Amino acid sequence: MALVFVGFMGAGKSSALDDVLDTDALVEDQLEMSIAAFFAVYGERRFRQREEPVVLRALRSGAPAIALGGGSVLSETVRAALREHTVVWLDVSDETAWQRAAGDERPLADDRDAFCALHAERRPLYASIADAYLPEGDRVARRAEPALRALAAAPRGTKLVWAATAGGEYPVFVGRGLVGGLPRPGRRAFVVTDANVGALHGAGLRDAHHTITIAAGEEHKTLAVAETVWRELATRGMGRDDHLVALGGGVVGDLAGFCAATYQRGVPIVQVPTTVVAQVDSAYGGKTGIDLPEAKNYVGAYHQPAAVITDVDTLATLPAAEHAAGYAEVLKTALIAGDDLWERVAAGAAVDERVVLDCARTKIAIVASDERDGAARQLLNLGHTVGHAIETVTGYRRYRHGEAVALGLLAALRLGGTDALRSQVAQLLAATDLPTTLDADVDPEAVVAATKLDKKRVGDEVPFVLVREPGDVRFGQRVPAADVLAAVAELTAS
Ligand SMILES: NC(=O)c1ccc[n+]([C@@H]2O[C@H](COP(=O)([O-])OP(=O)(O)OC[C@H]3O[C@@H](n4cnc5c(N)ncnc54)[C@H](O)[C@@H]3O)[C@@H](O)[C@H]2O)c1
Repeated sequence: MALVFVGFMGAGKSSALDDVLDTDALVEDQLEMSIAAFFAVYGERRFRQREEPVVLRALRSGAPAIALGGGSVLSETVRAALREHTVVWLDVSDETAWQRAAGDERPLADDRDAFCALHAERRPLYASIADAYLPEGDRVARRAEPALRALAAAPRGTKLVWAATAGGEYPVFVGRGLVGGLPRPGRRAFVVTDANVGALHGAGLRDAHHTITIAAGEEHKTLAVAETVWRELATRGMGRDDHLVALGGGVVGDLAGFCAATYQRGVPIVQVPTTVVAQVDSAYGGKTGIDLPEAKNYVGAYHQPAAVITDVDTLATLPAAEHAAGYAEVLKTALIAGDDLWERVAAGAAVDERVVLDCARTKIAIVASDERDGAARQLLNLGHTVGHAIETVTGYRRYRHGEAVALGLLAALRLGGTDALRSQVAQLLAATDLPTTLDADVDPEAVVAATKLDKKRVGDEVPFVLVREPGDVRFGQRVPAADVLAAVAELTAS
């Protein structure tokens, strides 16, 4: 089984690792002329006919790392042969690819518009065959190599996304049967879990050195509980060469992440998310924290995980209402991503590995461009301005996070003026048994007042994230206070 690098021309496949078998070089040897010269004389079809057997031979050669030409994967036969290997997609922007490829005697790199169109056309193909997704970055494959080797040894069907942010890089594994089966950084594992998850899935972490079990539920995402965790870690002698494991939903992930960010000024944490909310959203991106009675997620830190191990099998034990709550974050992410993810979710796709993976990739890509909420990351707040306010005014007890986000999404869609989309989303929420109305005793004025505590506010203004259409979502939108009140009041009235 080889690591096979695929991707667009200029992605850096042949130099991804130190010793990579480059099939373009093998093809040129066979052709006894440059690929560009062959293209010019015989055209692309003849070239692909000559390229295919060379690539197939290379895939049978036993070489540990192989780089394929950008168009090799157009061949169905090559794609079938790739199933025996670990396919690593080195992504690259069209801008970077053009800078590297133009003027470099590459046959398909003489017209910029055609080049960019080909780049856009090929990306879904690479995405569909990849086992590992690596973003553009200097020597990124070398840093990811241990994780790529772990992926090769992981259960079939496991995917790896390499998450890169200003604050750190880490592997994200998504698959089945993974809870205890992947290497983790650090010496001894100190596990933080909640009472429900610990009982159901704790045994999966056979190498746990010590397990701290907290009470389940948002109302326990507090400073007092964080203190019990810090103190137990200290009593048990956890050091910086050990690591924490957060086994649970978003509450465990946020709280254990906060403890990891602050205990001894920072220790590694591996997130092992077990709810839909955590698997599609909260486990990635390094936001950690606790709630105050006054406002949600008000004390915290950015602390990127050392790894995320997303085992979709753990969702089998998740109660239906928690599954549904997670669906609100799926809808949010699909609205932000647009394209194929939105189309599948809007058509009623179940939350399976593919949806989890695509949501994770969407979030990871956004956080890569903006770790600290300065710009694009604010998009992920879609539905959360009103959602968090509803959670705060109802004391974190009445609505699950996802349920509050469902209501927040409807308010945001009303404010964006996309009425048909709002109806479509309301139907999807209702079909999943999520609330589409706010309980009558919740005061809309109190909800609007609580939105003023939003951490993204600038002066007195609370910027909203609004949807123009799926895939076209804007952050930092000014909305008159009266409109916000009307949108929240509509939730109560309808
Ligand atoms: N950090 C971020 O970027 C981010 C993003 C989104 C949400 N969040 C936070 O996530 C939290 C919500 O997360 P959540 O919805 O996962 O809630 P949660 O962690 O409270 O889990 C929900 C319930 O499901 C139970 N549970 C978890 N996994 C289970 C399993 N596999 N089988 C059976 N029961 C299981 C838990 O014990 C709990 O009772 C909120 O605090 C929210 O603020 C954080």
